[in-house]
Amino acid sequence: MSDRMIVEPSGPLRGELLVPGDKSISHRALICNALARGEAEITGLLDSADCRSTMACLRQWGVEFEQNDDRVVVRSPGQDAFHVAAGLLDCGNSGTSIRLLSGVAAGLPFRSRFDGDESLRQRPMRRVLDPLGQMGASVSQDRTAPFWIDGSDRALRGFDGDIGVASAQVKSCIVFAALRADRPSRIVEPGPSRDHTERMLTAMGADIDVDGETIRVVPGAELQTSDVQVPADISAAAFWMIAATLIPDSEVTLPGVGLNPRRSGVVDVLKSMGAAVEITNRRDVSGEPVADVTVRSSTLYGTRIDGDLIVTSLDELPALAVAAAFAEGVTEIHDAEELRVKESDRIATTSAMLTAMGVEVEDWRDGMRIVGGNPRGATVDSHGDHRLAMAAAVAALASDTESGPTTIRGASAVDISYPTFWSDLNQLRRVPT
Ligand code: S3P
Repeated sequence: MSDRMIVEPSGPLRGELLVPGDKSISHRALICNALARGEAEITGLLDSADCRSTMACLRQWGVEFEQNDDRVVVRSPGQDAFHVAAGLLDCGNSGTSIRLLSGVAAGLPFRSRFDGDESLRQRPMRRVLDPLGQMGASVSQDRTAPFWIDGSDRALRGFDGDIGVASAQVKSCIVFAALRADRPSRIVEPGPSRDHTERMLTAMGADIDVDGETIRVVPGAELQTSDVQVPADISAAAFWMIAATLIPDSEVTLPGVGLNPRRSGVVDVLKSMGAAVEITNRRDVSGEPVADVTVRSSTLYGTRIDGDLIVTSLDELPALAVAAAFAEGVTEIHDAEELRVKESDRIATTSAMLTAMGVEVEDWRDGMRIVGGNPRGATVDSHGDHRLAMAAAVAALASDTESGPTTIRGASAVDISYPTFWSDLNQLRRVPT
């Protein structure tokens, strides 16, 4: 099968669409329940390549999963009864799997070996290996995967200090290790990264206290399994929010979207650009704020995205850059150096994609400047990055009708986080008669 998708400029997007379950919460629902002994049911789990990587690794430690569509039953002997994996723990493309499971591995009395695909092998791992080493785990000298972690030597000590980067993956890794330490931990992060781990573990009985960006973990509490209903993924919904904003006469409703304040920066940025985003029916689902989101087309204006807004809209920045490319005026993105170490170097790959589509873009170490205009169809490359493939699709849909279709190379990357992306697009494109 050719891994290209040809996307034509689109007429209005209309209708209601339930996007798949949140990727970050899905990983955590699997991992946190695996730590406790017993059974839990997860509904709305994202069935994508990344979540399958987490399940495959946990299976190797002795956890069982029974899957029926979007319902998964987790059956675990509990972390104390995990056994040594028969082989490498292959995390595929998933940074969340490898970093969160590293924290679990540090609390296991044997050696665990981690690896991933070509993209994951490029991503920095000292950010988790160093703190785990400080806590007393034996860790390999590698900077990147493949690497190993061995928790058998000594008792883990608590962690006390700054983690240096606003990263939920690093923070969660340390929290998982801290649950198995011999004394309390204090973890300080420089920005408000997503807090799904803290919320879920607290609901399961862990002794975790969060005060702004300081997290205290007291080990020893026995975790209880907990059923989880996973909200719709704001990171998936963002593509439709932006497409509906850009394509005239569109109106799209996205029910049950997770609107955790540490994830919803994309809504704040879009509103500040002039988007018509309506939030209704706010409620709580499994300890996470959720609401229905309706977006109607509107004219956007350039803006500046920096500081904490970068952290709370991190995965949506490629799609927001597409929004900026269609806005009136100039948009600047600052403080976003973390984009350089995602599934691709997203500053470089987003700039290249927009440049190919005729957009004036300048990029620098921690961001880019995008001059809004009239992007045209072109041939672009996802570089194997799921969010790039989907951001390119949004740009293609909204591009100038006269300029022809866009060819997206590496379009199957969407399977990492949103396998039904193309069929969902067709659903929204079918204008009811
Ligand atoms: C994630 C955290 C983010 C995000 C990633 C998922 C998570 O990375 O980019 O897609 O589930 O913890 P950081 O570790 O940089 O926060």
